[in-house]
Amino acid sequence: MNDFTEVTELKNELDQLRPLPSAAVKNLNEVLRVEWTYNSNAIEGNTLSLIETKVVLEDGLTIGGKRLKEHFEVINHSEAIDYIEEHVLKDKKLDERTLKNLHYLVLKNIDNENAGNYRNINVRISGSVHEPPNFLQVPQEMSNLLSWYEDNKGDLHPVELAALFHFKFVYIHPFSDGNGRTARLLMNLILMENGYPPAIVKAEHEQRLKYYETLELASVKQIYSPFIELITGCVRDSLNIYLKAVKP
Ligand SMILES: Nc1ncnc2c1ncn2[C@@H]1O[C@H](COP(=O)(O)OP(=O)(O)OP(=O)(O)O)[C@@H](O)[C@H]1O
Ligand SMILES: [Mg+2]
Repeated sequence: MNDFTEVTELKNELDQLRPLPSAAVKNLNEVLRVEWTYNSNAIEGNTLSLIETKVVLEDGLTIGGKRLKEHFEVINHSEAIDYIEEHVLKDKKLDERTLKNLHYLVLKNIDNENAGNYRNINVRISGSVHEPPNFLQVPQEMSNLLSWYEDNKGDLHPVELAALFHFKFVYIHPFSDGNGRTARLLMNLILMENGYPPAIVKAEHEQRLKYYETLELASVKQIYSPFIELITGCVRDSLNIYLKAVKP
């Protein structure tokens, strides 16, 4: 069983300090946007550093010697965060359009043919023995996932809901590429909808390995708690960053 006491308490502590000072929140959101974009893209193989990511996003500069695609990945991911922020602000429903729109934003200008469209090929996940469902089953599987979400969103702890949604999404692997980035965006959309800060899975060796290992455990052995625990730790880290910045 997973333990959400600590994250729940930290969130309550944060809620008690609301309304948070707007200058601090603005600064934090900028910092987290760069970290989230850097880490999510680095997991996928983007070679821009944290500082290079910041320079592309905040100063609008290009990095000499880096591919155009890597720049698009940074800009696209930031636009996907804009989309999530608006989605949360306007209290919109998470449906099939939401996840296709997010995937479109992630892959536009990079793979326009597939951006926003479910795969029409069968895929394997490198490093994993899990075989995602046949592409013909993807629309049905995705509709089942969204029904599962509707049925459970009132009952599960938001961190468990977000982590399981991420897992179930990558298990289906609905797109030919960009599944990991889209899953991490959707997980954070769910967290943010529930008043939590985004969970940032770190690209550094140890956490990345844990991320793959715990997903494989969930896919192959149906053991979910290690993945949920990893994500809970990421949420705790983000909550601590917030608290540190806004506590008097
Ligand atoms: N054993 C596994 N079972 C289910 N999903 C997995 C497993 N191993 C990895 N994954 C997920 O698959 C993602 C990779 O899929 P894909 O290449 O489509 O996504 P990406 O966004 O291009 O890359 P990345 O996710 O590496 O950033 C990983 O990030 C992870 O979320
Ligand atoms: Mg990929």
